[in-house]
Amino acid sequence: MEVSDPLEMMRKEFNTYITPKGWEDKMETLEDWKKFYESTVKDKEAMEKWWESWAEKIPWFKKWTKVLDDSNPPFYRWFVGGETNLAYLCTDWQINQGRKNKVAIIWEGEPVEERNEPKEVRKLTYYDLFRESNRIAYALKEKLGVNKGEIVTLYLPMIPELPLFMLAVQRIGAAHSIVFSGFSAEALAVRVMDAKARIIVTADGVWRRGKQLNLKNIVDEAIKICEREGHKVEKVIVVKRLGISIPWTEGRDVWYHDFLADVPKNTFVSCEPRGSEDYSYILYTSGTTGKPKGAQHSVGGYAVYLYATTKMIFDIRDDDIYWCTADIGWVTGHSYIVYGPLMHGATIIMYEGALDYPDPSRWASMIERYGVTIFYTAPTAIRMLMKFPEDIYLKHDTSTLRIAHSVGEPINPEAWRWYFRVFGKEKTCSSSTWWMTETGGMLSGHYPGRGKILPLKPGTNGPIFPGITCAVVDDDGNPVPPGTRGYFVITSPWPGMLMTLWQSPQRYIDVYYGKYKHKGWWYYTGDFAMLDQDGWIWVIGRADDVIKVAGHRIGTAEVESAMIKHPAVAESACVGKSDPLKGEIPLIYVTLKKGYEPSEDMRQELKKHLRATIGPVVASDAVITFVDILPKTRSGKIMRRLLRAVAEGKPLGDVTTLESEIAVEEAKKAYEMVKAALEAGPTSSS
Ligand code: WTA
Repeated sequence: MEVSDPLEMMRKEFNTYITPKGWEDKMETLEDWKKFYESTVKDKEAMEKWWESWAEKIPWFKKWTKVLDDSNPPFYRWFVGGETNLAYLCTDWQINQGRKNKVAIIWEGEPVEERNEPKEVRKLTYYDLFRESNRIAYALKEKLGVNKGEIVTLYLPMIPELPLFMLAVQRIGAAHSIVFSGFSAEALAVRVMDAKARIIVTADGVWRRGKQLNLKNIVDEAIKICEREGHKVEKVIVVKRLGISIPWTEGRDVWYHDFLADVPKNTFVSCEPRGSEDYSYILYTSGTTGKPKGAQHSVGGYAVYLYATTKMIFDIRDDDIYWCTADIGWVTGHSYIVYGPLMHGATIIMYEGALDYPDPSRWASMIERYGVTIFYTAPTAIRMLMKFPEDIYLKHDTSTLRIAHSVGEPINPEAWRWYFRVFGKEKTCSSSTWWMTETGGMLSGHYPGRGKILPLKPGTNGPIFPGITCAVVDDDGNPVPPGTRGYFVITSPWPGMLMTLWQSPQRYIDVYYGKYKHKGWWYYTGDFAMLDQDGWIWVIGRADDVIKVAGHRIGTAEVESAMIKHPAVAESACVGKSDPLKGEIPLIYVTLKKGYEPSEDMRQELKKHLRATIGPVVASDAVITFVDILPKTRSGKIMRRLLRAVAEGKPLGDVTTLESEIAVEEAKKAYEMVKAALEAGPTSSS
């Protein structure tokens, strides 16, 4: 697969209009769609009416008095005065609607038996979710005194106990901070300390690609780091997933089954009514500085937004079998494995392991096994599956799918076509839904939930969601013409948006609203995008120092600050390099301190270090290159654009215009130096 110019590839598809098979009589004209969309955004009243119509579809303990309080932008507050609870919406309400014994979660463990049948499948009904999360809620509250507003850190793999703990935490009015279980001890420690969490919930381990990974070791190491910094973790609740031997601290650690042993099965804890504008969780994400940001999400606005987008974009119905392949540790899993689908009483699939275990047909076989109708996955996964002969997927019946979207990074038209054809049988409504951790839910995509769809286009993010306005603008905030690259901004508030950054309100203002201050309160996404002639969005990639590796969001500054913690490293600069499979991979330039020499051993040592400090996601794809010096501008700023240009094999010409402070001669020299270092290799990843 060649990496060609993504803009060109996208522009070529602006006029490709595809009608999926079987949807012929459900196609909407552009004019009709525009009329509908306009009716939801024509003025503030129309927008509020649109969102209120969704709020009316879910139960509230107390009704709101005001749809949107925008008196203190950008701290927007939605459904002010209203009270509800996410756990209530996902369990109690479902049971009240007659779904008591409907299967909520079908979980498949990774290990397989002969003929690739799964060794372990667990099915939990809505009543199971309700009962178990009530018991956890009780134990958290009564045994550990978890109160309203407290943040509990969940460092759990993809096992049903993760959603159970999420629901339990919501039930008692506390909040969670989920840390992706692929993160290292150090990354976990930083997040535990920042949230001042005194409780961590984890598992002994997890299956990953046929191997048993020990998670408790990582937690213990993280706690040591916390202790060194003066933060005490009081309790670690451990789910026994593998039964492997793990380190144990008496008094602090408790097995999940022991924690609940004396809590009766029929324990009931009433759902704490939560103010619409309370916080339900924080989720750390990467930005342009080394310190991760805690995106803080609300209760009421978030619930309404997920309810609306899950219905509209996934067209979710009672008989759907819904599978989102993300990890719950990322926002996609929070919103579209757990809260959105459960609020709709869907049956969801949860899978513990790797997509290619024991072979790449695993997902297709699972779609067949459960008759999945709605599927949500990442472009990187699709590109990975594309590498193998199609017949391994065609052996499995995936014709039950009717919706198959993607998320997390741009999908190249070639991958979109493959997904639509091989998995979707050319009959799925498939689009690339654009959103971010901060947005809470999807802001774009096709929305079949109205009973009609617009034609598909390979690679587009589709139209913006009703009730929201956006623009693609230049540096000054002026709209750029269709087909031109610009910055993607959201020009009106929406209910799912983050409330603020955890304990950093000023940072919230600066990061998202600083760039276009003169325009009012425009939310700056940090992405480059284009609009096409129909007004649909085509997000090209990040415009800042954030990279997306296999859909995982990573701040280059985080990588750099991890690198310089190694005693041999003097300086480091990380840039994204296009990769046909992963979208981008981190390319890390390193200068070594006196007394250390570049060598293959050193490279491996640095990779190990990276694995331990940031985690395997970054480390396994990172390419480390040694340079004598890092090229800098006169004011001492690393010439990142130059480094990126070398990485992409782009000519220097592009660089001098971008990096105003560099004299041409200097830039040329630096360019050649970096290029030679890169070519000298070996630069391959492990
Ligand atoms: C990128 C993931 C193109 C984008 C839900 C955004 C996408 C960042 C898409 C947020 C898409 C997400 N097409 N790019 N469909 N979806 N992105 O916070 O650069 O992990 O800013 O949230 O992913 O990543 P995050």
